[in-house]
Amino acid sequence: MATVLTERTRYLLDEDRIPRAWYNIAADLPSPAPPPLHPGTGQPIGPGDLAPLFPMELIKQVVSQEREVEIPDPVRDAYKLYRPSPLHRARRLEKALDTPAHIYYKYEGGSPSGSHKPNTALAQAYFNKAEGVTRLATETGAGQWGSALAFAGAAFDLEIKVFMVRASYDQKPYRRILMETYGASVVPSPSPDTQYGQKVLAETPGHTGSLGVAISEAIEDTVTHPGTKYSLGSVFDFVLLHQTVIGQESIAQMDMAGEEPDVIIGCAGGGSNFAGLTFPWLGQTFRGGRKYKVIAAEPEAAPSLTRGVYAYDFGDTAKTTPLVKMHTLGSDFIPEPIHAGGLRYHGMAPLISHIYELGLLEAIAIEQTECFAAAITFARTEGIVPAPEPTHALAATIREALACKESGEDKVIVTALCGHGLLDLAAYEEYLGGQMVDSGLSDQDLASALAAVPVLAG
Ligand SMILES: Cc1ncc(COP(=O)(O)O)c(C=O)c1O
Repeated sequence: MATVLTERTRYLLDEDRIPRAWYNIAADLPSPAPPPLHPGTGQPIGPGDLAPLFPMELIKQVVSQEREVEIPDPVRDAYKLYRPSPLHRARRLEKALDTPAHIYYKYEGGSPSGSHKPNTALAQAYFNKAEGVTRLATETGAGQWGSALAFAGAAFDLEIKVFMVRASYDQKPYRRILMETYGASVVPSPSPDTQYGQKVLAETPGHTGSLGVAISEAIEDTVTHPGTKYSLGSVFDFVLLHQTVIGQESIAQMDMAGEEPDVIIGCAGGGSNFAGLTFPWLGQTFRGGRKYKVIAAEPEAAPSLTRGVYAYDFGDTAKTTPLVKMHTLGSDFIPEPIHAGGLRYHGMAPLISHIYELGLLEAIAIEQTECFAAAITFARTEGIVPAPEPTHALAATIREALACKESGEDKVIVTALCGHGLLDLAAYEEYLGGQMVDSGLSDQDLASALAAVPVLAG
């Protein structure tokens, strides 16, 4: 007879518990992160340098040292469509693994577009609209970010143009249709719509694209279209800031569960969901609280934290962005077309890179077949089909839980399940059919990618 599980499974907060402010980790860092530099002068950039791309309120958030940045009411109202998000205790997964560990996951896949990305898309759309912007240009990897911004564009009445990495455009037609359903226009990147896209296509016809190339196209589109600003789904400080609603809610929910994490795990592409979950917990540590084992899980195909260098580099392939100090594989690096399109980025958020350098978080890189094996176990126990990106967090979680089984420790693990994979079933089909391959990254390919990292004077 099946065991009846009577203990509590989901920890739910009322609507009025949606945070009223985003948490700004800059206020609590043990030392400040190195500033972005102007590529021409080598000097720290000022607000004026960012003004062609972003509205002033977002630029102010990048330089703010205030611990709390108020969430405007229209953004909180839009958050009510899906926040607070649930925290689940993965009791059935624990049972299947036969582990004494307690596993919790914060589930962001219940948002309208299916991931954590609307947390910042709604904020960015609101601040742009408030400053008279009529159109936003952006890139998307997996299509999750593009879908989120398309949804936010519909919510705040903005036109949205999306440059979608070719590999994902071909693998995930339903993501494109979702974006178009919300009213966005979508082109595969590299595209003929920009001069940079034309150049890349001329050099490499059939180029599978990368986030770095798509960012270059979106920036070129922005500066060549009046009334347009640029919007991005990861890496930049204000994006990480907006995602901290995840971690703040998780602190309240763990309190309801009467437990404190020993280990906190997230997948990291540019780092926004990872920061969203972990920064509010790390902030408690920085203010003198308990220390947690914090793990960023990245793909072997784009291992910026585990195998990249910590250096000033460009955020895009055309080298149009400011230079930011981050763990990077070189802005020319084109990762293999793994299914976790959202993790195919050459760099890591500067704030995460800085905290990693301080030794306050750990990183691991995992191959995609291990991740999908974890996802299958998860789907068959917890019922949710994860997006390919958080399968990395789940694989890391299962490694930790199995280590607990070995040691007999009942550690508390909290992880971010930052999106569902219902539009990623082609990846599952490939895995289930035994056709999924691991790509790895050879030392030789890594060395030639790193050779492109700029060498700064001084
Ligand atoms: C579901 C999902 N998770 C994770 C990521 C990776 O981005 P980040 O590291 O900023 O959370 C993406 C990016 O597109 C995504 O769609």
